[in-house]
Amino acid sequence: MQGPTEEQVAAAQAYEDLHVPALFQQWVEPLLDAARIKPGQRVLDVACGTGVLARAAALRVGPEGSVAGVDVGAGMLAVAKCLEPTVQWRQGNAESLAYADESFDAVVSQFGLMFFADRHSALREMLRVLIPGGTLAVAVWDSLENSAAYPIEVALLEHIAGTAAADALRAPFVLGEQNLLLSLFEDAGAESVSITSRSGTARFPSVRTMVEADLRGWLPVMGVELSEDTVQCILEQAETALREYVTPSGQVVFDSPVHIITGSKLLKR
Ligand SMILES: C[S@@+](CC[C@H](N)C(=O)[O-])C[C@H]1O[C@@H](n2cnc3c(N)ncnc32)[C@H](O)[C@@H]1O
Repeated sequence: MQGPTEEQVAAAQAYEDLHVPALFQQWVEPLLDAARIKPGQRVLDVACGTGVLARAAALRVGPEGSVAGVDVGAGMLAVAKCLEPTVQWRQGNAESLAYADESFDAVVSQFGLMFFADRHSALREMLRVLIPGGTLAVAVWDSLENSAAYPIEVALLEHIAGTAAADALRAPFVLGEQNLLLSLFEDAGAESVSITSRSGTARFPSVRTMVEADLRGWLPVMGVELSEDTVQCILEQAETALREYVTPSGQVVFDSPVHIITGSKLLKR
């Protein structure tokens, strides 16, 4: 795989600076708790992004343990490496993990599963690299309709920029249905699958920062480029559309619920 371009590193750094504190950081400890991560364990973080979960896992497992992080994005990994050189970062695809069978005590993954082209293969791979009796813990967003400000932003995009732009923003929320998650994990071979739904809070510095990051940062990742006129039109209308979520200090704050799914790998008889 190729090294990152300057644009990829800049986009990943923007993700780390804005999206990680606004949306992702708060799920790190609950997910590590769900995976029962302990000192001395070997942990794999799949779709690690800039590494917020892997960094916290490294603190928990301590010097006797080890953490590996895998992601398809070269820019994400470049930022991850700068922030925490001791984690074993690797560029790769969740659907074909380049690790030996049974090489991790726990496998964790937050907010990546919805983007994998073949989710069944990715889950089978996560179970393959897990030791028998080991825990797999995965976090996904609840459905779009339960995610407060996002249905409004999606409707605005649909109205001004069309279905492709709106679909790009719908993509993170496509695994909100619990029955779908249950069958995905069970079909992949996970045992004792359990789903916990948790409420969380999204917190952005302003409407403009939130929506601009989606339009200029996220949509291009999903293959949607908007004209500058369209971007400006959406930004202007978003101020009114999202006003109910703006606090007196100008922040945008809203409910952002997730599902945490755990499963284990069958012990050998
Ligand atoms: C929303 S980000 C979440 C990143 C990180 N887990 C976090 O909590 O900040 C989704 C990540 O999934 C990665 N990704 C998407 N498809 C992938 C695949 N097939 N294999 C590995 N990583 C993938 C992206 O590069 C991106 O870093």
